Amino acid sequence: MCGIVGYCGRRAAAPILLAGLKKLEYRGYDSAGVAVLNGTAFAVVRRAGRVSGLDGAASLMGNAGIGHTRWATHGAPSERNAHPHVWGDYAVVHNGIVENEHALKAECLARGEEFLSETDSEIVAHLLAREAGDPLVALRNVCARLEGSYALAVLCARTPGTVYCARRGSPLIVGRGKDGLYAASDAPAIATEAEELYALRDGEFAVLAGEEARIFNGELAAVSGDRIVCAAADDAPALDGFNHYMRKEMSEIPAVFARSLTDFAENSEFCKVLCQTEYIQIAACGTAYHSGLCAKFAIERFCRIPAETYIASEYRYLDPIVKENTLFLAVSQSGETADTLAAARLAAERGAVVVAVTNVAYSSLTRIARFTLLTQAGREIAVAATKSFNAQLALLYSLTAALARQRGRLAADPSALAPILSDALARSEETRAWTPFFAGARGAYFIGRGADHAVALEGSLKLKEVSYLPGEGYPAGELKHGTLALIDDKTPVVALAFSERLAEKTMNAVREVAARGAKVFLITCFEELCARKGVFRSLLLPPCEEAYSPAVSVLPLQALAYYVALARGNDPDKPRHLAKSVTVE
Ligand code: M6R
Repeated sequence: MCGIVGYCGRRAAAPILLAGLKKLEYRGYDSAGVAVLNGTAFAVVRRAGRVSGLDGAASLMGNAGIGHTRWATHGAPSERNAHPHVWGDYAVVHNGIVENEHALKAECLARGEEFLSETDSEIVAHLLAREAGDPLVALRNVCARLEGSYALAVLCARTPGTVYCARRGSPLIVGRGKDGLYAASDAPAIATEAEELYALRDGEFAVLAGEEARIFNGELAAVSGDRIVCAAADDAPALDGFNHYMRKEMSEIPAVFARSLTDFAENSEFCKVLCQTEYIQIAACGTAYHSGLCAKFAIERFCRIPAETYIASEYRYLDPIVKENTLFLAVSQSGETADTLAAARLAAERGAVVVAVTNVAYSSLTRIARFTLLTQAGREIAVAATKSFNAQLALLYSLTAALARQRGRLAADPSALAPILSDALARSEETRAWTPFFAGARGAYFIGRGADHAVALEGSLKLKEVSYLPGEGYPAGELKHGTLALIDDKTPVVALAFSERLAEKTMNAVREVAARGAKVFLITCFEELCARKGVFRSLLLPPCEEAYSPAVSVLPLQALAYYVALARGNDPDKPRHLAKSVTVE
């Protein structure tokens, strides 16, 4: 979380920092700030709110600066907690969490130092100010004392025209362009300006000064950087007539799904690994976790290989058992989610073959993985993941089919889904008429069995995320074991039924909740269920292979969440408290 930009060179720093920060707002948008070094004096502008609210920042004078857009971890989103933090000769922006904050802060307080913010990040400026001499050495010494994760960009008033950088656990890219040197949390923020881009590796430092971005290892020996390629990107791709990116991205799903279907060349090294695979572990967070859950059902059904899906933040502390011939799928749109990276590292340490399933070719996850499978979702701007979910499914279903083939088993062809999706997307618009029953509700339930349950979880996450309404995804058969007590006429229930085998079982739960006053909104591909007693409204979607049905059944849930968010006056693209890329633990 949090976006960092740094610049030094021939041009005025402030406009470059602001342009870069706007491209990084997906990483956090609750407060922002810039510091520019003019001679040996810092000029700082910080505000609560978005980058566009940094009045006066654009005219700050100076050719070296750092900027930050924040997702609060320590202290409220306020001007005083916004970065950069200045202490003594140093100005600092930080992404990550200083886990030994209390001990370090106590040490500074004991020295009579005052803290101007509630952040953990300010400590870095205090510790730096205490170090005499070369700021790079100072930064190395301070980083050695930090526990947790960080990407840091630092200015020192004693060394005008220089930006210092450090990375451990949180991404940081440095680059060289014809007018100067750049640093950023993510490459697109600087790719229009910098022709050469390098991703710092964990434990590396960089000094941007003069014509050179020099990179150093932990011993401060110069090293050659890890060059990456990233196309230049606009901060605001065209909305093409849509009002929001979330809606536009949903409209792209049929094309994205088709693009993300992958043919795995027989005899490739990857297929040889598939041949030997006996166990599959999948780890991911949020929506990516739900796509992993959906994949588990397809893999077990067609390949008969035990597959387990883990929430990545749990996996890393589970002391997981990794058996021989385990394939570990780390699923992450951004490829930067801290918990997913940690889970992948642990799985690799324990001997699993780690495969990155990601949308970003140069992301940190690809550096941990032995194989990378790229989804073709294109850039996803809205914080709520929609098209990336379907892209992940396309890839994971393609993998399922390949795995089944390797074992001489038959699997349905996921490409058969592609033509169905446009029709399902159009029909999903019908959920707009459902919004009055949700917008004022106390909360909503989403129920289903098997893969329908995985989609129910995703539907409830989507609703919570953009409408701020409590939503719960529940296995349809489990309600009666307690949760049914919460169901009344103010809790709409969305029921999913896409499994021929399980649909009647789900309809039992439909009858049970309807009997308690709930209005049931049924989404199914079985026409005869729509007229059943207890169904208040229904949406009929085209029939499809049951094991791959989540790619279809999720569409109306995404649409429903979007329309309920609008009805409640929310910005679906930038929900409160959230960020697109979650790079802290
Ligand atoms: O970039 P990742 O796929 O690793 O992100 C994982 C989650 O943070 C993400 O899916 C999040 O849950 C979405 N905002 C949900 O819409």
